[in-house]
Formats: sequence, structure tokens, C-alpha cells
Amino acid sequence: MSDFLEVLYERTSAEHFDSATPISVQEIKELISEACQAPSAFNIQHWRFIAVTDERIRERLKGTTIAPNQERVANAPLIFLILGDLNGYKRLEGILDETVHAGLLPREVADVWLTMANGMYGSDPRLARDEAIRSGSLAAMTLMLAAGNRGYVTCPIGFNSVQVMEILSISEQHVPVMMLTVGRPASGNNARRPRLPLDQVLAFNNSPE
Ligand SMILES: Cc1cc2nc3c(=O)[nH]c(=O)nc-3n(C[C@H](O)[C@H](O)[C@H](O)COP(=O)(O)O)c2cc1C
Repeated sequence: MSDFLEVLYERTSAEHFDSATPISVQEIKELISEACQAPSAFNIQHWRFIAVTDERIRERLKGTTIAPNQERVANAPLIFLILGDLNGYKRLEGILDETVHAGLLPREVADVWLTMANGMYGSDPRLARDEAIRSGSLAAMTLMLAAGNRGYVTCPIGFNSVQVMEILSISEQHVPVMMLTVGRPASGNNARRPRLPLDQVLAFNNSPE
């Protein structure tokens, strides 16, 4: 098995985290750099991250999720909130300029992208929100694999987004996409859960059943 497949198949949603082993700021930054290698529409990179390391804030976040999740929210040494920036497209001009200057995109194509993106997202806030959530989700998945590659375990956690926005003073410009607990594993975590058979999830050239 390749290293990639090992990381992929070893990732499970962990219940038990070693609260005594913190993750350094340097490693948090490396993890986020790796997560940012995910793709995003027009390379807008709508994702934004909050790394919650403060025990008192983790304790408050505990109350934004259902009881079965609370132990891990309190015990994981690190919680990431992955957000999507609804105004992310407003930075696209600068992103495209850098790409053009690096010789990675012709200026004419960059200009077309910019006009398209401003037209699409400026006139359709729902599309802007969908794309922010898509990009944030891809970053969250990449972040889980990056963490797994470094020997950490993770768990996506369902949460009350109104409460989370209040606790972390998240502005309306940002949509919460995912809460993720991260840390070294403690004992007692689940083995891999089964997946649906391929014939129930994959169709060729037509809609699945
Ligand atoms: C959007 C989302 C929300 C989730 N919320 C929770 C949660 O609140 N609590 C939990 O224990 N697991 C949560 N999970 C993890 C799933 O239960 C888990 O991914 C699924 O059962 C498959 O198991 P695996 O991740 O170990 O392969 C969530 C996963 C996703 C993608």
C-alpha cells in the first residue's frame, strides 16, 4: 500500500484524544499550509481557519455540540473551525495578478476569470455561499489527511453555528463550514467503519438509483 493509501484508509473519526499532548503553533501553521493545497473555484481560496487552543474557549465550544461529542471537544488539544469567506472573490484580482506575474496564467485569461467571477458571485449570493462551502469542505478534508499523515487523529463535529459564531466573534461575512477536533489518539478509538458497496454509489453515464 502506498503512503497515501495508508493515510486514507487509516483515517477514522476519533472519539478519544490525548489532552496532555498539545500541538505547536509551528505545526498548526504547517497543517494549514498543507490544507491550503486543496483546489478552489478560480483559486479564490475561500477557506479561513480558526485554531482554538485555549482550554477556556474549548470548554465553551463544548456546549455548542450534542452530548456524545462533548468529551472530545473538551479533550482534543486543538479544534479547527473551517470557515468560508463569502467575500473571498473580492480578493481574486490580487490572486490573479500574482499568478500572471509568475507566468502561470496569460493576462487575457486572468481578465476573463475576473469578469466571470465578479459577475457570478456579485449577482448570486447563494452561489457565493455554495462555493465558499465547497472550498471550505475540500480544505477540511485535506486538513484531515494532512493531520493523519503526521500521526494525528481527527473528528468532524456537528455544531450549532449561531452559538459558535457568537463565541468566536465570527462576522456574517464568514460561513462556518466544519468543526474539527485534532490531537494524538488516546486508547479506545473505533476501527474503520464499512462503506456502501460501489454499485450503490457509482453509476456510469447516468444517474445513480
Ligand atoms: C459534516 C460531518 C459532520 C459530522 N459530525 C459528527 C459528529 O457530530 N460526531 C461524530 O462523532 N462524528 C461526526 N462526523 C463523523 C462521521 O460520523 C464519520 O465520518 C462517519 O461515521 C464515517 O466514519 P469515519 O469517519 O470513521 O470513516 C461527521 C462527519 C461529517 C462529514
